[in-house]
Amino acid sequence: MDIENPPELASGMHLSYRCRYWRQRSKNAIKREWSYGGIYGLEWGDPDTVEPLRFIRDRYVLPYVNAEQCAVEIGPGGGRWTRYMLGFRRLYVVDYYGDLLEEVKKHVRKPNIEFIKNNGTDFPGIGDRSVNYLFSFGTFVHLDEHVIQTYLSNMKRILKAGANVVIHYSDKTKVMAQINEGFAENTPGKMRSMVSEAGYEICEEDLTTMWHSSIIRFTI
Ligand SMILES: C[S@@+](CC[C@H](N)C(=O)[O-])C[C@H]1O[C@@H](n2cnc3c(N)ncnc32)[C@H](O)[C@@H]1O
Repeated sequence: MDIENPPELASGMHLSYRCRYWRQRSKNAIKREWSYGGIYGLEWGDPDTVEPLRFIRDRYVLPYVNAEQCAVEIGPGGGRWTRYMLGFRRLYVVDYYGDLLEEVKKHVRKPNIEFIKNNGTDFPGIGDRSVNYLFSFGTFVHLDEHVIQTYLSNMKRILKAGANVVIHYSDKTKVMAQINEGFAENTPGKMRSMVSEAGYEICEEDLTTMWHSSIIRFTI
């Protein structure tokens, strides 16, 4: 794939994800899910109460929140994780789907948050080397390899030296991912290679907390 000219989201690679998950989601379905604790996405587990998610919150999110620093979240859904990152000086919340940004805005509208609709792999409006922390949960699990590679390439521009990036991705070495058709064909081995080949340094990998996915933290 041409990294300099990432494909439009209308191309097959994005459409496959879109078809699998989002196209068929009617506004009614979103409203129904919203009624679950008020935040769309809480039906997948509340990080305040569900143990593996609480561990992720306490280990990979809260320790990095810093009122002097700037963060990015990719794919907020209804803001299930966004609410823990409000303490950053500036938080960019990035999503390809405008509808989802509208939903999250209803819960977490604050002056230090900027909502950005992207093309599926880019970071429009975010300054060069301005970001200290980047987090994504529940989004890369659905993204194909070439989309992940493009994201890894594009995020280099916005990351400060020493920035921490935490990405939750599909792990098809696990049975619960194998039986989930919506999960991308990714593994810790593939993810490790993509991250290293993009020029990052891997800091830690969590292959055990989640039953269908894994987490990687890396820096630049
Ligand atoms: C399954 S939801 C996860 C939401 C949330 N992070 C959570 O864990 O509750 C996936 C999110 O990723 C967004 N998304 C899907 N493809 C994306 C892409 N290529 N770039 C940015 N966001 C994307 C969706 O609109 C949605 O907000």
